[in-house]
Amino acid sequence: MTKKIKQGLKTQFMGKKLFIFKNIHSTNDIAKELASKGIRAGTVVISEQQSNGRGRLSRRWLSPAGGLWFSIILKPKIEPNELFKLTFLTAVVVVRTLRKKFKLNAQIKWPNDVLINGKKICGILSEVITSLSGLINFVIVGIGINANIDLKSFPKHLQFSVTSIKNELKKEIDREDFLCALLTELENYYYLLMHGSFDSILEEWKGLNCTLDAYVEVEGLDGVIKGKAIDVDQDGALMIKLENGSMKRVISGDVFLKRFYKTSLKTESEK
Ligand code: BTN
Repeated sequence: MTKKIKQGLKTQFMGKKLFIFKNIHSTNDIAKELASKGIRAGTVVISEQQSNGRGRLSRRWLSPAGGLWFSIILKPKIEPNELFKLTFLTAVVVVRTLRKKFKLNAQIKWPNDVLINGKKICGILSEVITSLSGLINFVIVGIGINANIDLKSFPKHLQFSVTSIKNELKKEIDREDFLCALLTELENYYYLLMHGSFDSILEEWKGLNCTLDAYVEVEGLDGVIKGKAIDVDQDGALMIKLENGSMKRVISGDVFLKRFYKTSLKTESEK
């Protein structure tokens, strides 16, 4: 696997160093350990399976063989409150790559999911390690993509809400080739972010997302909030217009889409 990825990667730094495992607890945890030992930015940790894959809100992330479970170590010059920018950027890159490679109608669901026809195909877990003074030492971007997975590998209660690339295409994909394409795109977008072009990434995120303009129910710390998702603010929080006309700002929670408004699934480059 290492050789094939190395041959396929034409990046400057992303994926130049790879750690590939058969089965570890969590690629994010191993990436954190490596980063704290000073490993170079762009290093990628991949595992065929994870015994303790982690999702958002301390949830378990099922990681059977056949998926693409990996974490990238980055050292961006951003403030901790800008971490969402990396998550948004990563979601844009995953969607672009799924569309470009396989013509799949992937969309982003706030804050960090990638869906196909409303079913989750990818989750992103960005974690930050800060110094005592509060500056970012490094960021771990963990990406879980249901690639060559049969839906029956998931528990019954999840089988209606998740999908995989294999399930959508009815055939297995070349995961190394997909990973190379994704890391290449990720490097390009990372450079864009580092050169101060988040606005253009955010515009693209908005064009690819299925949360804005939809009626949503958000289960969060404050209970359930119902309303229309209007926008994301400068901190990546979701702005929801409630039925009484007031606005509510949501920073974390599970979003349930009640109605889809978006019909155009084309990216700018596809139009
Ligand atoms: C979510 O949607 O809740 C985020 C899921 C993130 C899963 C990935 S798989 C690779 C990396 N290692 C982990 O333990 N989690 C992330």
